[in-house]
Amino acid sequence: MPAIPTITLPSGAAMPVYGLGTWRMGESAKRRADEVAALRHGLARGVTLIDTAEMYGDGEAEAIVAEAVGGRRDEVFIVSKVLPENASRRGTVAACERSLKHLRTDRIDLYLLHWRSAVPLGETLEAFAALTAAGKIRDWGVSNLDIDDMRELATLPGADGCAVNQVLYNLTRRGIEFDLMPSCRQHGIPIMAYSPIEQGRLLGHPALREIGARHGASAAQVALAWLLRQDKVAVIPKATTLAHVDDNLAALDLRLTEDDIAALDKAFPPPRKAVPLEIL
Ligand SMILES: NC(=O)c1ccc[n+]([C@@H]2O[C@H](COP(=O)([O-])OP(=O)(O)OC[C@H]3O[C@@H](n4cnc5c(N)ncnc54)[C@H](OP(=O)(O)O)[C@@H]3O)[C@@H](O)[C@H]2O)c1
Repeated sequence: MPAIPTITLPSGAAMPVYGLGTWRMGESAKRRADEVAALRHGLARGVTLIDTAEMYGDGEAEAIVAEAVGGRRDEVFIVSKVLPENASRRGTVAACERSLKHLRTDRIDLYLLHWRSAVPLGETLEAFAALTAAGKIRDWGVSNLDIDDMRELATLPGADGCAVNQVLYNLTRRGIEFDLMPSCRQHGIPIMAYSPIEQGRLLGHPALREIGARHGASAAQVALAWLLRQDKVAVIPKATTLAHVDDNLAALDLRLTEDDIAALDKAFPPPRKAVPLEIL
């Protein structure tokens, strides 16, 4: 498979535009082997970014990532997240230490604030700066931050280090295109699209099926290719079924035409006014 394109982050690190999600992993002992196998399969096929969080399976998803990565740590770009209730100056550092233990590694490539809470953003940023200085994280970013939160973030010291905003973005959730996405673009902050196939709910839509049929592609590939055609947008579909891992990866080779894009705009109209950021 050709190398996956990358986005250059403030640290100079190259972040792949395609990765593997892990939400709902680590919640069942019965599914664990399949989850490890799915991540290993993705890695074997050349996907090196894995998105996880301390929240997922209460740290068990991070442990699954560690098991899947094994001795290949240097090839892998790991994203993890601190829970808002842990996001104080000291709490963030402690949460990161726990994640490093679960992940069985000495650094996290990209560490995100999972969503906003009452903890002042400045405190979390101070912790991110300390963790960066200590070499425990390479880059930091945010998740689920809407336009007002991003505006506030921009006023804080060190905000220009923000590497991504990871948000809900797919054909049925286009609200960010109105203001959040243009604002992130203006500040050079890439969007990492989570739930890019709307947790599977998107896949029965006739428009996706029709366009897919024209290209010999699946509905999932159309949904992912629609996101991937955009500059500075990364996707992190989650799949525990090996066939799904393969199916999704083929999206990297799918080029949608102008007609396809127009048909998708008709089926899933872009926003005409500001709407609050949706969250799953
Ligand atoms: N920052 C945040 O607040 C936040 C929130 C949500 C998600 N995320 C991250 O984003 C990742 C992706 O989002 P998500 O897990 O919510 O949803 P998603 O990736 O949109 O969808 C995952 C679901 O779709 C199924 N699936 C995957 N590929 C498929 C295919 N080709 N054909 C048919 N079904 C397919 C999977 O089934 P199988 O597992 O059976 O293959 C799974 O049930 C998460 O895992 C997590 O890492 C972050």
